[in-house]
Amino acid sequence: TPLSLIRNFSIIAHIDHGKSTLADRLIQHTGGLTAREMTEQVLDNMDIEKERGITIKAQTVRLTYPAKDGKTYVLNLMDTPGHVDFAYEVSRSLAACEGSLLVVDASQGVEAQTLANVYQAIDAHHEIVPILNKIDLPAAEPERVRQQIEDVVGIDASEAVEISAKTGLNIEGVLEAIVTRLPPPTGDASKTLTALLVDSWYDAYLGVIVLVRVRDGHLKRGMKIRMMAKGQTHIVEQVGVFTPKMIAVDTLGPGEMGYVTAAIKTVADTNVGDTLTDDRNPATVALPGFKPSIPVVWCGLYPVDSDDFEKLRESLGKLRLNDASFHFEAESSAALGFGFRCGFLGLLHLEIIQERLSREFDLDLIATAPSVVYRLRDNKGVVSDLHNPADMPDPTLIAAIEEPWIKATILVPDEYLGSVLTLCSERRGQQVELTYVGSRAMAVYRLPLNEVVFDFYDRLKSVSRGYASFDYTIDSYQEGDLVKISILVNAEPVDALSFMAHRSQADRRGRSICEKLKELIPRQLFKIPIQAAIGGRVIARETISAMSKDVTAKCYGGDISRKRKLLDKQKEGKKRMRQFGKVEIPQSAFIAALKMD
Ligand code: GTP
Repeated sequence: TPLSLIRNFSIIAHIDHGKSTLADRLIQHTGGLTAREMTEQVLDNMDIEKERGITIKAQTVRLTYPAKDGKTYVLNLMDTPGHVDFAYEVSRSLAACEGSLLVVDASQGVEAQTLANVYQAIDAHHEIVPILNKIDLPAAEPERVRQQIEDVVGIDASEAVEISAKTGLNIEGVLEAIVTRLPPPTGDASKTLTALLVDSWYDAYLGVIVLVRVRDGHLKRGMKIRMMAKGQTHIVEQVGVFTPKMIAVDTLGPGEMGYVTAAIKTVADTNVGDTLTDDRNPATVALPGFKPSIPVVWCGLYPVDSDDFEKLRESLGKLRLNDASFHFEAESSAALGFGFRCGFLGLLHLEIIQERLSREFDLDLIATAPSVVYRLRDNKGVVSDLHNPADMPDPTLIAAIEEPWIKATILVPDEYLGSVLTLCSERRGQQVELTYVGSRAMAVYRLPLNEVVFDFYDRLKSVSRGYASFDYTIDSYQEGDLVKISILVNAEPVDALSFMAHRSQADRRGRSICEKLKELIPRQLFKIPIQAAIGGRVIARETISAMSKDVTAKCYGGDISRKRKLLDKQKEGKKRMRQFGKVEIPQSAFIAALKMD
């Protein structure tokens, strides 16, 4: 296909503004699938995604569109994920395209994610076509939202396309805008092959499938390709495109998007953002990639039944095949035995993986409290990462602890602004900017990630009755007065419950955890002290009182010495229990205990 007849584009939108619905309509309108095949949203193809109604994995579809100018165009649509946890996948999709459709719900207006995404698109030098969706709704105010896009986003919205993705109204208008307003890709067919590795995943039949965007040259079956980052070579078995069905083609040329299979064993052998080139005539300069995904939240996953350890290892391995942003390594805990320390892009990612492990692999797991990655500098100036609070060295050996901060954008109706600002300052937030977007306030804050990972989003939704929208990017590491808080149950430290906190929050959080554990741990025959401590200093304490079991009841009327004997025996038992007793901590305690109030 000549470059002038190719358009590569992404759809960016705030969650629920109709991105997937529009993508489906575009596929349907251009005949990629029959009506029957369209019964389900096709771009969201993981079960859990569907249930939660979110798009996780960036996908691509090639559409063929006969335009009004009489020419037939090839349109490559890259879907982008809609949740903040997966923001890095947005940048990956954007790097493979020249333009974006900015979908805004005309009954809702611009939201935090709209802004975050559109700034990424601008950074990627995209041409942006605003689309006003859901104009079938009585509450739609396309004129007001058009103005808002101009005022807030700062792009020309005078020619925004008004549509209803649901009813299919004006889908043709979107297709024409793609063809006439987005630029064609550039590239040179006569140069040697360079192709951007956009994504890769594992397929049970075909092995690893690599999604690429060709820049220069051609990608053909049978050719030997080289991955520029590490230099591995592979023979191409198949090249093809998604329509969204997989269709093999002879070659992929400049500007085109498609897939490659090449007997690659694991996804770990492919680096997203890498450049593929021709092994016989390799390019010397790699294409500009994009930021790799780095797990920001870590927690331990342990099998409830220790016999499941190997099964857990296998299952994590299988998940990793398809999700390069998920990390795991073996670790052990005094409290929980053998398990794995796992890294995620965010809490949603963590929940999804946990859910898949229990659902698809039938594993019963305990997760320890999620933690961010701290950076430690010891007295000799050596810097190291701390993934697990339990591994925190003796604080006297540490000169400084740094924690990751984020830059958050929050949009909220005026009446809830007060509560949102209070929430942010409780979480040690620093206000960067406070402006207005129409009738809503836009607050930009810097916040420590640690204060956000547990339940910030839930709290934000609840203090704003669901009206606040939120997006963030990782900002930088910053030194803080941070301490490790250990939790002792029955005088024994439970490593899996230890966590890091800012000193100013330590007392409050220590107390709140002790109080929660008091409710969560069932009473036993003996008294259980629950303590929170920084080093040797106890900062909070609760006691679970013993279950009273009146063992003497049976001996009513009996002789007093027998009664005494029985009591003594029981006391001994109690003592033994205290000393060696294992207190059962229910699984729910681990995350619940660390949620802040
Ligand atoms: P994520 O995949 O979670 O990012 O969401 P999305 O932006 O892809 O939104 P999706 O397409 O799933 O649409 C969200 C909801 O809005 C669904 O219930 C759609 O049926 C509905 N919706 C989408 N487009 C329209 C429209 O034009 N009109 C109306 N009334 N509803 C729409």
